[in-house]
Amino acid sequence: MTGQNLTTPGALSARLLDWYDAERRHLPWRYAPGQVADPYRVWLSEVMLQQTTVAAVVPYFKTFTTRWPTVTDLAGADDEAVMAAWAGLGYYARARNLLKCARVVRDQHDGQFPDTEDGLRRLPGIGTYTAAAITAIAFGKRAVVVDGNVERVISRMFAVTDPLPGSKEQIRVLADTLTPQDRAGDYAQAMMDLGATLCSPRNPACGLCPWMMACEGRKQGIAEKLPAKVAKAEKPLRRGIAFWIVRWDGAVLLRRRAPEGLLGGMTEIPSTPWREGDWSREDAILYSPVSADWHPLRGLVRHTFTHFHLELSVLSGVAKGGEYPGCRWVLPEDMDGEALPTVMRKIVRLALGQG
Ligand code: ADE
Repeated sequence: MTGQNLTTPGALSARLLDWYDAERRHLPWRYAPGQVADPYRVWLSEVMLQQTTVAAVVPYFKTFTTRWPTVTDLAGADDEAVMAAWAGLGYYARARNLLKCARVVRDQHDGQFPDTEDGLRRLPGIGTYTAAAITAIAFGKRAVVVDGNVERVISRMFAVTDPLPGSKEQIRVLADTLTPQDRAGDYAQAMMDLGATLCSPRNPACGLCPWMMACEGRKQGIAEKLPAKVAKAEKPLRRGIAFWIVRWDGAVLLRRRAPEGLLGGMTEIPSTPWREGDWSREDAILYSPVSADWHPLRGLVRHTFTHFHLELSVLSGVAKGGEYPGCRWVLPEDMDGEALPTVMRKIVRLALGQG
């Protein structure tokens, strides 16, 4: 290759694809070169991956695709069953949009996902990133796919020092200049893998990188500092008191949350509102659906949401039973099938640990 320019877009994408062929991660939604991708599996994996890490998504992806192997199967599922299967992945509005999207694909698109970015973006819960990712990975069409990993790779390659989020469009334009026509899905996933493995936020493994010789950030010695980001506001700390209410047979009182807003429609351990101030026990128990003889459990449940940290203490009480609006009695051994988000599972763990 002596004498050839190794930093043209064509040479760079070829090198990246060679690296991907040798080093790619083998993930359950991925297809070998030449295999036809199933748009349903690509869509499902991309929606889940916006949420959390690859390692966390794998078991959820397997559960969903075993229970609902096609988009039509998912569209026909009970809302409750899908919310329960999603529980633990976080950001529950996304699960509702997932179902909405499956039903639109079934009812308005004959069960087939549209194969263009514009068509995909019109579906519920599909934004610019997801539309581009599905277009490239499921349909093999060129699309500029920019997630957080790709932002890191591109900002380093071109030494973009303007901070995110203001530099998003600049990064997208630069990503466009490197995106090849061919092997669109492999290229998109190669970029993601490069960002997730070698081009990591800390201690990037530049010595192993297929783009090392072209990386402006590395040449300038600033790769690890990029992408620059505007400092985010500190998250406030909110507090609340949860009520662990047990009936004679060991069943626990669970409640369904309001359909809109944070954890909308999910199941909860009843609690006070979550606010920045402290709670006295007297104020707190006014919010319990049931009166009881309360005793505090040891320890705190801590959880971080997008916009705040939460600390919950737990009051435990025994109640006679009976019916309460929006509430159900559920035995601890049946809680796995409940749409209990992670913060609620932490309360269950704390309470059962002291049972
Ligand atoms: N993150 C988002 N989409 C991904 C994919 N298809 N493979 C690996 N990581 C991803």
